[in-house]
Amino acid sequence: MQGLTIEGVTAGYGATDIIERLDLGPLPHGELTAFVGPNAAGKSTLLRAIAGLVRTSGSIRLDGDELTRLSAGKRARRVAFMPQTPPDRLHLSVLESVIGALMVGPTDGGSDDRSPAESAMAALARIGLAERAMEPLANLSGGQRQLVGLAQALVRKPSLLLLDEPTSALDLRLQVVVMQLLRSYAREGNIVGVVIHDLGLAARWADRVVLLDEGSVVASAPPHEALTADRLNQVYGVACRLERCTRGTLQVLVDDVQGAS
Ligand SMILES: Nc1ncnc2c1ncn2[C@@H]1O[C@H](COP(=O)(O)OP(=O)(O)OP(=O)(O)O)[C@@H](O)[C@H]1O
Ligand SMILES: [Mg+2]
Repeated sequence: MQGLTIEGVTAGYGATDIIERLDLGPLPHGELTAFVGPNAAGKSTLLRAIAGLVRTSGSIRLDGDELTRLSAGKRARRVAFMPQTPPDRLHLSVLESVIGALMVGPTDGGSDDRSPAESAMAALARIGLAERAMEPLANLSGGQRQLVGLAQALVRKPSLLLLDEPTSALDLRLQVVVMQLLRSYAREGNIVGVVIHDLGLAARWADRVVLLDEGSVVASAPPHEALTADRLNQVYGVACRLERCTRGTLQVLVDDVQGAS
């Protein structure tokens, strides 16, 4: 079975389960999936579970291989994960920090004739930061550091790329630049999963939206099917309208919130 398939996954911290018996997928190669849901819904925990970074039981299969049974090293050959917090080793140069990500080891799709420095420069060029390569990370703005985090994940060319809120610190243009880049990376034959709070951005660029609430999947479908006013009301506690603009793109308009004074 090709793609990412999650069955009966329970994950959490210490004795507390955040996600319980979750089923999802298969998420196919070539598609960009947006994980959405309220704060504390379990989005980061789910991505960490797939990446092997939290206590997890159940089955997570990538192209038929059980990821939970692979060693950390073998798993890292298949999966790259960009955490919600941007890179913080600020004394490193931008280039060094991206080369450092390559040192985790090659991925199955990542071997080519280029040196680590060449690969890292190519990844930086893709996000428009090649000119800042020799500067310390500390010199970059918050959004630029977030882009470096994206370059660190991309440079390894994983067949499964998971990104936790890669657009949260980005301006209007760069949000779209990143979503387009992730979609085109998916179209190259990879599986891309991205956590995002902006439902309009998710609806515009993702092939599929997975709506999470309290550690469970509420919907997993193309954006216009997954996102309905009733579901958003139930999950986020908002009164909203979903309308299509003149170009047919879904717009989420929040009219009121419940439980606020
Ligand atoms: N390291 C941790 N130790 C203990 N509990 C944690 C830890 N990280 C997250 N949690 C708890 O797990 C639950 C889900 O958190 P998670 O970070 O997965 O949410 P999220 O959907 O990513 O939220 P956000 O949109 O705010 O990033 C929360 O109740 C949180 O307090
Ligand atoms: Mg999170």
